[in-house]
Amino acid sequence: MNSKLKVFVSRKIPSLGPDLLRKEGFEVKIWPEERPMQQDELIQEAKQADILLSLGENKIDPYFLNECRHLKMISQFAVGYDNIHIPEATRLGIPVGNTPDVLSEATADIAFGLMIAVSRKFFFNHKMILAGGWGSFKPTSHLGQELAGKTLGIFGLGSIGMVMAQRCQGAFGMKVIYYNRTSNELAEKQFNARKVSFDELLAQSDVLSVHSVLSDETRGLFDRQVFSKMKPTSIFINTARGGIHHEEDLYEALQNKVIWGAGLDVTNPEPMDKDNPLLQMENVAILPHIGSATVEARDGMSKLAAENIISYIKSGVIPHCVNPAAIE
Ligand code: DGY
Repeated sequence: MNSKLKVFVSRKIPSLGPDLLRKEGFEVKIWPEERPMQQDELIQEAKQADILLSLGENKIDPYFLNECRHLKMISQFAVGYDNIHIPEATRLGIPVGNTPDVLSEATADIAFGLMIAVSRKFFFNHKMILAGGWGSFKPTSHLGQELAGKTLGIFGLGSIGMVMAQRCQGAFGMKVIYYNRTSNELAEKQFNARKVSFDELLAQSDVLSVHSVLSDETRGLFDRQVFSKMKPTSIFINTARGGIHHEEDLYEALQNKVIWGAGLDVTNPEPMDKDNPLLQMENVAILPHIGSATVEARDGMSKLAAENIISYIKSGVIPHCVNPAAIE
């Protein structure tokens, strides 16, 4: 293979992937700073490279793509790729790879953990101790909800949603319903999951967990009107993308007891402002987008991002390609 191909990596990632690329004869340059790159910095570096290994924080819009139309491919270190303008990449013939599956266990663990944290008010109680407010046993205050036998509604039942369903059914015997464009036969067989309409999902879920991509169809979908169709006892979980829910409407829905609680690993914008009132609510748990933050998942993402590149250069095939039309 051509030993001179240059890969630019836009952030320090676990060394597995860069090591693999070097072993295969690529020249690898890694952005050394502990901050996201500005777009002009990224363009400058990408202009010197043949391939970009990008992160979700990089703005890869039509402007970037046209400035860097020479790129042979973009390999994204993430399953999500809403930061990349895929139609323009496809038009310019730049294929884009991503890293699905390797982070499904880790991300589902965060959804599962947030669900329990909200249902028993973990974060609120922890803050109360820190503030010196433990006090005496109070038989009727700060009561949570039990999850056993409740209904889990999954919005976007792909690989992360499957692990979430498995966790919830195994631990709490929860019933599983889901909303997808296509049926998930494996989930129907394995978890007795039932495909329902969007309105049914809203009306029947005790816990509604979002696992879909951020797209024109899902952007801002969970807004005031949608929350109003959910149960007043329900818990909303989002570990996918913050842009899928409307944050002010979520606050209002919680404040007015339209829904009961919320657990978020993703916010809009990120990072969330430290003074955001959601952070002080009793039935809310918020994490700083750590869904894939395990050693196993991040190693897997690094390796897969490198493998996508190696396979494409060697054989013209990207194992996980989001726009195969760009290759055709
Ligand atoms: C992903 O892979 O899309 C996760 O959100 C981590 O960025």
